[in-house]
Amino acid sequence: MKHHVLPIFIFLLSACLAAGDDDVTLVKCSTSKGPIRITVHENWAPIGAARFLDLVNSGFFTQVGLGRVVPNFLVQFGIAADPQVQRRWNAKGTILDDPDIHTPIKRGTIAFAGGGKNTRTTQIWISFNDNPGLGHSPWETAFAQVDPEDMHVVDSFYSGYGDMGAFGGKGPDQGRHQQEGNAYLRSEFPDLDYLLNCSVVPSQVDLPVQEEELEDSLLPGEEEDTESTPQADSADTIQRSEDEVVEE
Ligand SMILES: *[C@@H]1O[C@H](CO)[C@@H](O)[C@H](O)[C@H]1NC(C)=O
Repeated sequence: MKHHVLPIFIFLLSACLAAGDDDVTLVKCSTSKGPIRITVHENWAPIGAARFLDLVNSGFFTQVGLGRVVPNFLVQFGIAADPQVQRRWNAKGTILDDPDIHTPIKRGTIAFAGGGKNTRTTQIWISFNDNPGLGHSPWETAFAQVDPEDMHVVDSFYSGYGDMGAFGGKGPDQGRHQQEGNAYLRSEFPDLDYLLNCSVVPSQVDLPVQEEELEDSLLPGEEEDTESTPQADSADTIQRSEDEVVEE
């Protein structure tokens, strides 16, 4: 039977297992350009996935401005509409980096923006392209994937402001964005697109499956190295290349 099990079944079946390495959660977001579906892969980066789902479940991604849209690179977002909400999340502190299992950054892959080891908070990015240059910093471990069918929505996000000022663009300043929230975006960046809301889609594992297939799909668990040094730093940073670093 084993050779008849499609990869997608293996993936979803494993999601049924309490201690599964392949837990997936489907999140649906409405944006000002249409809906997008996001598959969260807890086995790629359990800590990042959990933080993202905490954010989703708390309603964080309501009216969140897509403040940094750099064509052929990424869209970065995750500063709350309401500065009080952002302050609460900042006060919760950063999360530890996940062990790097070398999940490649593909078109539509999502990871957190950070500014050094163990600095992830609320900002994430979606890669526009397959990008082997991204994902190598310890905080850039991929944790989710936009459904390929929905990437046309991501492609359509307004990019006219470009990158952040520090990198030659006209995009929002992250400091002011955090301090002033959407009032700043609405007054100075009227064309920005937004995530309108995101929520977890319940019972995503509902394909009919066979017991034997499930057993065949079991993979041996692997011990992961969780060694890491807490060392919070200031900026949410994405490295585009050696000389192109983006900070909050
Ligand atoms: C999300 O926003 C869309 C568009 O405004 C709306 O139709 C939908 O009901 C909202 N969903 C939730 C769960 O609030």
